[in-house]
Amino acid sequence: MTSFRWWQRGTIYQVYPRSFMDSNGDGVGDLPGLIARLDYLRWLGIDAVWCSPIYPSPMKDFGYDVSDYTDVDPLFGTLADFDQLVAEAHNRALKLVLDFVPNHTSDEHAWFRESRSSRDDPKRDWYIWRDPAPGGGPPNNWLSCFGGSAWQFDERTGQYYYHAFLKEQPDLNWRSPEVVEAMLGVLRFWLDRGVDGFRVDVLWHLVKDDQFRDNPPNPAWREGMDPYQRVIPLFTTDRPEVHGIVRRMRALFDEYRDRVLIGEIYLPVERLVQYYGPDLRGANLPFNFQLISARWDASHLERLVDEYEAALPEGAWPNWVLGNHDQHRIATRVGGAQARVAAMLLLTLRGTPTLYYGDEIGMHDVAIPPDRVHDPFEKNVPGRGLGRDPERTPMQWSARDNAGFTAGTPWLPIASDFTSANVAVERGDPRSILTLYHQLIAMRRGEAALEVGRFEPVRVEGDVLAYVRRSRKDESDFLVALNLGSRPHALRGLGNSSRGTIALSTHLDRVGETVGEELALRADEGVIVRLAP
Ligand code: NOJ
Repeated sequence: MTSFRWWQRGTIYQVYPRSFMDSNGDGVGDLPGLIARLDYLRWLGIDAVWCSPIYPSPMKDFGYDVSDYTDVDPLFGTLADFDQLVAEAHNRALKLVLDFVPNHTSDEHAWFRESRSSRDDPKRDWYIWRDPAPGGGPPNNWLSCFGGSAWQFDERTGQYYYHAFLKEQPDLNWRSPEVVEAMLGVLRFWLDRGVDGFRVDVLWHLVKDDQFRDNPPNPAWREGMDPYQRVIPLFTTDRPEVHGIVRRMRALFDEYRDRVLIGEIYLPVERLVQYYGPDLRGANLPFNFQLISARWDASHLERLVDEYEAALPEGAWPNWVLGNHDQHRIATRVGGAQARVAAMLLLTLRGTPTLYYGDEIGMHDVAIPPDRVHDPFEKNVPGRGLGRDPERTPMQWSARDNAGFTAGTPWLPIASDFTSANVAVERGDPRSILTLYHQLIAMRRGEAALEVGRFEPVRVEGDVLAYVRRSRKDESDFLVALNLGSRPHALRGLGNSSRGTIALSTHLDRVGETVGEELALRADEGVIVRLAP
């Protein structure tokens, strides 16, 4: 076991700091609030907290528009609070992973102010400036992920700058060696302060085509779809040169002990796994988001797990993500009953699981009234379900006012079922989804086969996904059988792959029940069977 790193064996928990815990009554979560809830995370059993951006920001994209990379926004607290967070997390044997946003700054960052001040400014080429097209208008057809052209005209110097996201988020030019050095310096600043790693925002976006070629049209695009998908981002993302930069980041991490480099990368599996880098000198964990877009049926999930396992380079460590602050919540995507099955899937697949705050209590998307919409994506491209506020609502701690999140007015509405769906109530309920998460995480930690063992698919009939996790050593092996359907289903004839005792059911009963050659699953039930030796 000792040859595995913490980020291989452990479970990562994402905190969206605005929504986790508010300590000062301004309706927005903060670092002292997070510190106050570390004991809960310790109890839950996770190993690492990944915290979305806390840096000074005009909050046009809620912290993903950074105006100073080496400080803390007063909304969240101070650098002293941050140092305390690191210390308090480490005291509880929790790792702390920060969010690094290297693709773009805020337009209020000092670097961009300088860059836009004149064409001769020494920082001009820290960003991506181009002349208008010959007949006027944007230099090419590149689109912003948040709608419209990715080019913004700047009157003062008569050129356009490129922004993959909001116009208030100009892209840095990673072809400039000075940018590379400055940004590595940012990483060093936080690594020196004791941060255990980074989740790197939109890692596959960092480098753009140096010839600025038009992106090709997407033949699959139809009216009503996300406008960004009108073209294929061939020349704006996943450029070969990005891997050199990932390697530089990783080399820096390797100067420190035991830090993790996680990449946010939305790409098909065969492209995604390139980010492990040649000789695995790239990202430790290129985030694997396949479960987020997956059709929720057994044959589809079986295929995608197989494809991912097959695509992994030799020695690369897998990982799985069920949700994040940009995606509809799992309980909304698959329903409350299947959200339990999804939890069992996430925590028994081979590879590091990342879970999103609140999913462990079954939080679902919250409908946001039009006058309370905050997300710029929803404002730019309204009414298509693209907005991300619904999955960012405040954590539900208790049945008290505002779910115990704030003494003030919460920045986003709180789910109407919070009096029953909250940490305090669910901790005391032996059948709650929180109890299920707690037991799944505890079980995983205690069992080598689940933490780091081999993965062997088991082919079964019906809408059931089944696999065995096998340990290298003389320890228990487990069958995991997940009924993805809403009808009971019995598995038969699995021989030694099912003989044993039930260690956990998503319904939180049946523990200790003997399983022979037949395993009966109820509707929406997943079970873990400890196989007989
Ligand atoms: C990905 C982040 O997760 C998302 O929230 C943000 O809007 C974009 N990157 C831009 O930084």
